[in-house]
Amino acid sequence: MKHLLKLEGMPGAAMREILDSTSAIKAKRGAGEAKPLDAQTWAMIFTKSSTRTRVSFEVGIRELGGSVMFLNANDMQLGRGEPIKDTARVLGRMVHGAVIRTYAQTDVEEFAALSNIPTINALTDDEHPCQILTDIFTFEEARGPIQGGVVTYVGDGACNVPLSWVHAAAALDFELRIAAPKEFQPSAETLAKAGGNIVCTEDIQAAVDQADMVYTDVWVSMGMEAEAEDRLAKLAGYQINAELMRLAKPDALVMHCLPAYRGKEIDEDTFEAHANTIFTQAENRLHTQKAIMTWLAG
Ligand code: CP
Ligand code: NVA
Repeated sequence: MKHLLKLEGMPGAAMREILDSTSAIKAKRGAGEAKPLDAQTWAMIFTKSSTRTRVSFEVGIRELGGSVMFLNANDMQLGRGEPIKDTARVLGRMVHGAVIRTYAQTDVEEFAALSNIPTINALTDDEHPCQILTDIFTFEEARGPIQGGVVTYVGDGACNVPLSWVHAAAALDFELRIAAPKEFQPSAETLAKAGGNIVCTEDIQAAVDQADMVYTDVWVSMGMEAEAEDRLAKLAGYQINAELMRLAKPDALVMHCLPAYRGKEIDEDTFEAHANTIFTQAENRLHTQKAIMTWLAG
């Protein structure tokens, strides 16, 4: 039984298989594409808000021939304290796959272990694997192989999005630089586990120097709202703007997983100057996740 629970420990060859099949899936959309989820019903269990992930999975499951039900975790007995291990054993007897967005990584892992159906992490506090596979596909679609390239992440370097980047770097052999205040950098333990060519620094200029891509995410992730004021103050110097982008390669891409907060992690002008890349990145969630589900069904 295959799952996509995290990029941590995922072999580069498996990532490559998904990435390499995404272009064909994108090209064939609506033109006699394969239906690997034919006659299947998939459940999406979400505890946190979502626009892109929800819509791209709902559309993608249908386009692959399946039916989909969206379940707000708070409307389920889960929200009243039913354990995830019981929810997993019930759903596993009824549906054919699950896409889960929640807080604890252990919940997604427990669901996968007990449901006996393909399970996808659609964002936890630890990782956002579908996002980063999409981002790498988007980079390669625009610029060719990411191997040997330099990706610079600016902002909250310790949340789910940069942590998935950390685990992709060794597997796909690119340099990752994280520019963040010390307390918002990945832990030494995580970096040691990931291996790879990763530099964490408070020197944002050095981190962006000659980068092939500069990437950011929100400063206040879902679930961190109580820390908002403190985070906005501490991360204020870590904004992607035109002045910073002058240090990157002249054709450097700017990406943002979205939603974006202009004037915080990125300024309005830089966001709009790179909007084509950023919204292609958002669209590519659909194509990459169809490749992920096709890989799981194979
Ligand atoms: N980037 C991303 O996962 O967006 P949503 O939170 O809207 O799904
Ligand atoms: N780090 C962000 C990603 C949103 C897609 C969050 O967890 O809220």
